[in-house]
Order: sequence, then C-alpha cells, then structure tokens
Amino acid sequence: MVTELTYHANIFPGTRQELVDQLAKQLRPKRFHHVLRVEQTALELAAQNNVDAERASIAGLVHDYAKQRSDDDFIAAIKAYRLDPELLDYGNAIWHGVVGAELIKRELHIYDEDILNAVRHHTTGDVYMTPLEQVVYMADYIEPARDFPGVDEARRITAKDLGAGVAFQAQHTLLYLVENGLPVYPKSLATFNAWVPRYQR
Ligand SMILES: [Fe+2]
Ligand SMILES: [Fe+2]
Repeated sequence: MVTELTYHANIFPGTRQELVDQLAKQLRPKRFHHVLRVEQTALELAAQNNVDAERASIAGLVHDYAKQRSDDDFIAAIKAYRLDPELLDYGNAIWHGVVGAELIKRELHIYDEDILNAVRHHTTGDVYMTPLEQVVYMADYIEPARDFPGVDEARRITAKDLGAGVAFQAQHTLLYLVENGLPVYPKSLATFNAWVPRYQR
C-alpha cells in the first residue's frame, strides 16, 4: 500500500502529485520508479526515527532529480553557481547530488536546507548527517528493488539502528570503490572515518 501524503508545510510550492509529475518529466521510467520506492522507504525510516514525514517524502522524491542531466549542464552549473572547482574532477555520480541540490533550489523552488543537504550527501554521506539525511542516504541504499550481496543485512541493521546502517553503507561503498579502482571523493573517506570506527565492536 503506497502512502500518499498531503503536503501542508509549504516546503514545496505545490502538491505531492505536482512534484511527482515534475520528476516524471525529468527521469526515465526506471529511475522514476526508483525515486517513488525511495520515497516510500524514506517514509518508513522516518516513522521509525521521528523524522518529519513531509520532508522525508520530498527529499526521497527529489534526491535523483538531476541524475539524467548532461555533463555540460552540470559543468555550466558548477561555474555559474561558483561551486568548488574540484568538483570538475568528478562526474555524474557526485554531481547529481551536490550540483543537483542547486538545480532543485532554482527549478523546483525548494529551499529547505535539511532536504537540500539530504540530496547533496545521498551518494557520499557526510561527517555529520541529520536524521533526515541519514534516512535518505539509507532509503536510497535499501529500497525494495535493491539487490546486492549484503542488502538484507543492510536492511536488518538499519531497522535496528539508523546510524549503524549509515556506517554499514559507508564501509561497503568505500570497499566497492577501492576494489573496482574507482575514484574516491574525499567526502566518502571522511564519512568512513566519522562513522565506521564508531560502530565497530
Ligand atoms: Fe543518486
Ligand atoms: Fe537514488
């Protein structure tokens, strides 16, 4: 059963359905259905962790808003909005979060910093993450269609302790990047250092 929230807080200037329609225009069907599942998982995690449901819905829906924009769009935005020039050394995997948040602000008129930070940090995590940021980071990782070795363990750990889920993901993402010879964005390493040793026992 899909939960459909009514938005009250005027965080997004429109209804949930209007926001969903904007996403449908930006994303191919596969990605669009992923964001709907992330929204639902974010709502479940929000309910378990005393996080505002409306923010969880909006952040879950918009976290991949910019995923299908061209590299040229991102490069232009990094320059126009004077973001960290080091971002130019990375690619879509990093840009769709960090730069995507700027596009969300300007195109969807969502200015809630907790939501924008949840988008910015959904791929890399961060040293400090609010409960909403943790909810979106984990919902993206464990939504029902995710299927990778360890996903059931990730779901179990997250259901028990949201922060332990964050540590699990931070460790496994870094392992994956290193094992596959992929670039490690410095923030991913900072996230590892901030979260993983704390949860070792
Ligand atoms: Fe993403
Ligand atoms: Fe995603």
